Amino acid sequence: MFGKKKEQPPQIDKEQLELIQNAQKRIKQKKRLYFHFVLFLIGSIFIIIANTILDIGKDFRPFDKEWFLSAIFVWLFFFLYHVFNVFITHKFMGKAWEQKQLDKLMIQQKLRIEQLKNELKKEAPIIAESEHYNESINKKEKTSELTIIVAAAENDAIGKGNKLIWHLSDDLKRFKSLTNGHHIIMGRKTFESFPKPLPNRTHIVITRQSDYQAPEGVIVVNSLEDAINAAKNDPQPYIIGGGEIYKQALLLADRIELTRVHEDFEADAFFPEIDTSVWKETANIFHTKDENHEHEFSFLTYERK
Ligand SMILES: NC(=O)c1ccc[n+]([C@@H]2O[C@H](COP(=O)([O-])OP(=O)(O)OC[C@H]3O[C@@H](n4cnc5c(N)ncnc54)[C@H](OP(=O)(O)O)[C@@H]3O)[C@@H](O)[C@H]2O)c1
Repeated sequence: MFGKKKEQPPQIDKEQLELIQNAQKRIKQKKRLYFHFVLFLIGSIFIIIANTILDIGKDFRPFDKEWFLSAIFVWLFFFLYHVFNVFITHKFMGKAWEQKQLDKLMIQQKLRIEQLKNELKKEAPIIAESEHYNESINKKEKTSELTIIVAAAENDAIGKGNKLIWHLSDDLKRFKSLTNGHHIIMGRKTFESFPKPLPNRTHIVITRQSDYQAPEGVIVVNSLEDAINAAKNDPQPYIIGGGEIYKQALLLADRIELTRVHEDFEADAFFPEIDTSVWKETANIFHTKDENHEHEFSFLTYERK
């Protein structure tokens, strides 16, 4: 049990072996070429000495030049042919090897396509069923209209230091009358900006905190989707802010009840820009300044096109 382990031959597959053998072959080819280059240089020097200093074959003058020039030229031709063979003809691991790899890759791709086709065949009925289910839910169960209610300045400012920026009594009255008896969905910060929950409304507070404590009757959820779901029996739930929640809800809402305050204000919370290619203005009521209203404003209604 504790004896010396028998040495196992290395586990190497056929392809790896082929790769190693090819690499070794390649090294040998390059070594031979290098040897040829050195031989060519030394050989050329010997030929030059033999012809010019030792006067060997002095009378042999092909093309009316010393014979060493022709000899070196011919040798150079063979050397270049060798270079061509090593780097061009036998580049990488040879044509046959490359073709083999390409064929292998194509077979793998074909197998993968077949596999995907089979998976799709199996899943198609399930996908169709779930699409049908979603469609029927949309048709049958979408009985509530999600409305955003907000007061925003000309520069889209809505709040600063977790407080509203203005006091407009008619705007508050409108907010109260529209939301009375309904579910009001809000971010945790907006909820904490109230001294206490508003009467006669069901508060749904969105937070990422799993242990958020809220007064009795206040529904706490962890996402906007859960908030909308919690209000699904209300035909008219309202998104009442603040900036973070408005931004997310604008993609889902059916209507916007906007009080546009006709001034710019410094703020740290903003309403997102209303894209008029998505939203159509359906009502616009102007309100002047008076003893109860420091700023001019308009009640605007937008419906999703
Ligand atoms: N003018 C208006 O009509 C109006 C109306 C309402 C509010 N306001 C103003 O707006 C400001 C507050 O807006 P705000 O943008 O700072 O805060 P907010 O939208 O009221 O609340 C932000 C908080 O909501 C939670 N939250 C946001 N997205 C979430 C998600 N996808 N999933 C789970 N939780 C999510 C997070 O709570 P946790 O940090 O707990 O995770 C986040 O910190 C205040 O100044 C307020 O007075 C103005």
